[in-house]
Amino acid sequence: MSGSLVLFGPPGAGKGTQAGLIVDLTGKPQVSTGDMLRAAVKASTAMGMEAKEYMDAGLLVPDSVIIGLIEERLTEADASAGVLFDGFPRTIRQAESLEAIANVVAVISIEVPDSAIVERIVGRRMDPETGGIYHVNFNPAPPEIVSRLIQRPDDNEETVLARLAAYHQQTAPLAAWYGERDLLVSIDGDHSIDEVAAAVETVVRGLA
Ligand code: AP5
Repeated sequence: MSGSLVLFGPPGAGKGTQAGLIVDLTGKPQVSTGDMLRAAVKASTAMGMEAKEYMDAGLLVPDSVIIGLIEERLTEADASAGVLFDGFPRTIRQAESLEAIANVVAVISIEVPDSAIVERIVGRRMDPETGGIYHVNFNPAPPEIVSRLIQRPDDNEETVLARLAAYHQQTAPLAAWYGERDLLVSIDGDHSIDEVAAAVETVVRGLA
């Protein structure tokens, strides 16, 4: 399949959890703006320090910063046949900028009600060594790695509510925007990880 895919949905919908499957099925590299921003924060770059203030508050990082990051990432050789965008675009302005520089062939929207989001995010644990995503109840880590797991600084209840508000105000309107372009494919994400994975696989195989 030529062109890029977008993985879309609210915070905690399961975008990162399902991204590996799509990478395996398509061979496209995952481009996660959240991961890129967290790497910049860890490296203490000027951009990372600026972004951290927004991320810790549960607000979107300014479009100009994000668009610059994506433009630079798309110049890399592995992006030439398209990528899997995860967590980008998140505003109409980001989507318009993307339209000018990449050929998006489908937007896979994982739909999860707000009522399920807080529990998913507050229980999330990350493996800093592998990038693995776990959940204390829904996807427990193997006992031998539990001691090294970390919790993201923005994975607390207060920040999640701010992230959800930003999602509904600035990001959710993109679903209609992509719908008008016949690119939106919706998946019910309010099921087990394996059930959602099966639905994602059906959709991705149907795009080939
Ligand atoms: P980002 O890192 O993109 O966070 P997000 O969109 O809020 O998404 P998450 O990573 O929280 O959730 P996810 O959908 O990947 O869920 P996951 O698979 O981990 O962004 C962080 C911040 O960076 C933003 O707030 C913003 O400040 C900034 N930013 C990033 N991109 C930006 C952009 N384009 N523009 C502006 N600012 C930007 O799953 C969550 C948990 O649920 C896990 O524990 C998992 O195990 C569990 N789980 C997954 N699926 C299921 C299931 N089906 N059932 C039960 N549990 C499940």
